[in-house]
Amino acid sequence: MEKIWSKTTVGRMELPHRLAMAPMTRSRAQGDGTPGELSSLYYAQRASMGLLITEGTQPSDDGQGYLGSPGIYTDKHIEGWRKVTDAIHQAGGYVYIQLMHAGRMSHPDNTPHHRQPVAPSAVAPAAQMFTAKGMQKIPIPRELTEADIRTTIDDFRRAAAAAIESGSDGVEIHGANGYLINQFISENSNRRTDAYGGSAINRARFAIEVVKAVVEEIGADRTGFRISPGTTLGGIDEGEQGFEVYRYLIKQIAQFDLAYLHVMHLGNDALLREIRSLWPNSLLVNRAGRALDDLCVDLDNGLADVVPVGVWSLANPDFVERLQSGYPLNEADRASLYFGHGSKGYTDYPTMKELEQP
Ligand SMILES: Cc1cc2nc3c(=O)[nH]c(=O)nc-3n(C[C@H](O)[C@H](O)[C@H](O)COP(=O)(O)O)c2cc1C
Repeated sequence: MEKIWSKTTVGRMELPHRLAMAPMTRSRAQGDGTPGELSSLYYAQRASMGLLITEGTQPSDDGQGYLGSPGIYTDKHIEGWRKVTDAIHQAGGYVYIQLMHAGRMSHPDNTPHHRQPVAPSAVAPAAQMFTAKGMQKIPIPRELTEADIRTTIDDFRRAAAAAIESGSDGVEIHGANGYLINQFISENSNRRTDAYGGSAINRARFAIEVVKAVVEEIGADRTGFRISPGTTLGGIDEGEQGFEVYRYLIKQIAQFDLAYLHVMHLGNDALLREIRSLWPNSLLVNRAGRALDDLCVDLDNGLADVVPVGVWSLANPDFVERLQSGYPLNEADRASLYFGHGSKGYTDYPTMKELEQP
């Protein structure tokens, strides 16, 4: 357990301990995708987590999936994020903006241009999505042309530059959880017959090209990458040979010398050991579904350098202090996780000090 309180270097950051805040969509951005004052407060309240990886943030109109998710591709977005990054830095934390292109996990009612979602192939995820009109079926996406793919990679590149301009310490490229990059990786969402589909090498190509573009723009030591091997989110089915593509992808992106790789770990420990052996730099492991007592397992077993925490950090602005003192945790209010709840369930979770006050 002591290892969690030791310092570590990740990219350009000297982190005070081995915790981090996992990326979490909270759908509180203004109508044009600019984060508001509440977001500055929300993140600053959690600055003791050390590294805060933000909610998924779209690099373009096409990239938006959810209502109220923020963007990082206009001057207004940059201004809004600058207030957030300043607030985090003043409170002593670091921030990486997560670049998330939702791909087919979107609905025309949720995007500024109201267009058909885009994806590697015209395959719908067989899912519904929350919109201003309530839950709606996700439509069949439009297959990206090779020219569209080049534009999309450039959107990631420009979003990374915008993130740095807004004061972010780096970006995490979202390659996990069924969104665009994961849709290229997985055979059941990628039916392409060109250089971006078919073999594992081809299905990894888009991810690698996004990493390369972002690294060229902002530097490898400010770039992280997230994967979730074996996920079934968003209708993803990576199949029996699913890990083959990750083995290749990890080896390739290891050559860029990134700040970190972030694994959303779904329990295949042999896989995690293999990832550890393939990845030379900092490894962040977010093990889904673990009990609080098991928080340090991967750290103590040498399989992780940092353990990002999602829901507990959302519900406990002072998670670090509570863990240190053994204080009971607030429960997350599931009803106010996403769109339409403002400060409720966002910035109003009490700290232990506030609870102790008479
Ligand atoms: C409300 C909520 C929103 C999430 N949004 C994102 C997201 O935007 N990007 C992402 O990579 N993961 C997202 N996740 C997944 C978390 O980063 C994390 O992997 C998951 O919650 C499991 O970790 P935990 O048990 O510590 O919460 C989200 C999870 C929750 C609960």
